[in-house]
Amino acid sequence: MKEFISRAKYLWDKSIKLNKDKKILDCASGNGSQTSQHWLEWGVSSDNITAVDVNQECLGTLSDLGVKTVCMDLEQESLSDRLGDEKYDVIVCSETLEHLQKETADNLLIGFLKALNVGGSLVITYPAKAGKHKFKYGHCRQPNNTEIIEVVGECFENTESSRWFVTERHPNEPACFLMFTGKKND
Ligand SMILES: C[S@@+](CC[C@H](N)C(=O)[O-])C[C@H]1O[C@@H](n2cnc3c(N)ncnc32)[C@H](O)[C@@H]1O
Repeated sequence: MKEFISRAKYLWDKSIKLNKDKKILDCASGNGSQTSQHWLEWGVSSDNITAVDVNQECLGTLSDLGVKTVCMDLEQESLSDRLGDEKYDVIVCSETLEHLQKETADNLLIGFLKALNVGGSLVITYPAKAGKHKFKYGHCRQPNNTEIIEVVGECFENTESSRWFVTERHPNEPACFLMFTGKKND
């Protein structure tokens, strides 16, 4: 039987609730309606979340909720250009790699490694069938686990992957979930 669960809840259960008091980067958050907005409701302090996105209007919603926001185009700038030496314990990149060119996505993954504390976690999701909807949702390619693991896998103690089904907005579109935990070193 299919498991129907929202993105925010799935990410919460898998990682965020265990890291409630740690520093979280929500990369390409949009307005956080599928991520940070819920985590704030469920008890994460706004002081612990930084949200990055290209869409200033979307970020405004999170900014109004007290979240630190950084408006940037990941195709044009690297994370460290804007975040400097800031480090996080959890980095979430949900439903975003499919919007970026492969080279940008690879550089972003390397940027995540630099921005993650030792022992930290990197959590990635992407739609299992991104290509089918590329015109509707602005996807430019279909990521896959192999290419992501190739770039960052060796830098972590553990890799976990699964699929789940998102309820509210995309009931028939499974998403891939990939979580790396225990970053090895700087
Ligand atoms: C499908 S939404 C995902 C939003 C959120 N992470 C979630 O899980 O619901 C993709 C997000 O990527 C952002 N995005 C797309 N291209 C981007 C770029 N070049 N730089 C920064 N953000 C980008 C969009 O503005 C949008 O908020």
